[in-house]
Amino acid sequence: MGVILLAIESSCDETAAAVLKDGKILANVVANQTVHEQYGGVVPELASREHQKNIIPVVAQALQEAKITKSELNAVAFTRGPGLLGALLVGTSFAKGLALSLNIPLVEVNHMEAHIMAHFIDEPHPPFPFLCLTVSGGHTQLVIVSAPTKMHIIGETIDDAVGEAFDKTAKLLGLPYPGGPMVDAYAQKGNPRAFPFTKPNIEGLNFSFSGVKTAILYFLRAQLKDNPDFITENLADICASVQHTLVSILLDKLKQAAQQYQCRHIAIAGGVSANSGLRQALETAAQTEGWQVYLPAFEYCTDNAAMIAIAGYHKYLAQDFSSQAISPMPRMPIPTL
Ligand code: KG4
Ligand code: ZN
Repeated sequence: MGVILLAIESSCDETAAAVLKDGKILANVVANQTVHEQYGGVVPELASREHQKNIIPVVAQALQEAKITKSELNAVAFTRGPGLLGALLVGTSFAKGLALSLNIPLVEVNHMEAHIMAHFIDEPHPPFPFLCLTVSGGHTQLVIVSAPTKMHIIGETIDDAVGEAFDKTAKLLGLPYPGGPMVDAYAQKGNPRAFPFTKPNIEGLNFSFSGVKTAILYFLRAQLKDNPDFITENLADICASVQHTLVSILLDKLKQAAQQYQCRHIAIAGGVSANSGLRQALETAAQTEGWQVYLPAFEYCTDNAAMIAIAGYHKYLAQDFSSQAISPMPRMPIPTL
């Protein structure tokens, strides 16, 4: 008999539901929360309230699109963490209630592992083991992926995430939240070498982005003193230069990790894996380093429930179920190697 699974994602500012049947996605619905735009960042309290409003309609739409009724479901998967506590509570409570009422297994999923598992939604799948650079609004991690449920961190940011560096740069430039995609769009029209920024000197496989962020702030302040129109006159070149710096910090560590772990199969995952500069840099490295690279489809880069569904499906197959006593884990880790 086939497995039909409903997945729920509510870790940050997207309320999402997906339906998966025998490893194939039948529906993938994401409701974006626009309420945060006016604040220039996610307001946790508002995110929880929006999840409360959205969760039932989003799940109903996913089931309708998949042409599946609740009684056909075999399991409910949900994001346990990492993420905002109040936001996670909405998805967790909903998943627990639904699983209890249908008397079916509950499957907790780690959001960052799910970003990586998005590579197993469509072909081609990376072969195990592979190295994944996971880059999102809250995380920057280098992960050795040995199996669908066996992952280890070998490096991560010691301060800000790279997505945060993109978003904060966008804010300094007066671009709306979330600014990453806008910096990317302007960067495509600019010169990446117009304004050089110094890269951090961090030993080993960890990252740091707070120094670059401060360097960008001071650079803009100094330029604006001489020319109040500096940003509007140079927007594309500033975005291209910042993006070039951030991507090259990522690529330096990725190359170092690939060499250290003798890995040729390289993937990227998470919201920032939608970035055109990073995707291009991976394609180039595939040639120069002899890598086989895996880039996720755009719809599976940023937060969605299809990735929770595929990660949950593999845990379901391993009979790795959660108890009804489970609660969210805002700082849910991936173990280090
Ligand atoms: O994975 P995600 O949707 O949510 C988290 O788990 O954090 O990642 C969101 C992050 C935001 O910082 C957003 O600005 C960034 O991904 N992002 C991008 C692009 N698309 C999304 N950053 C740079 N270029 C993009 N095209
Ligand atoms: Zn995410």
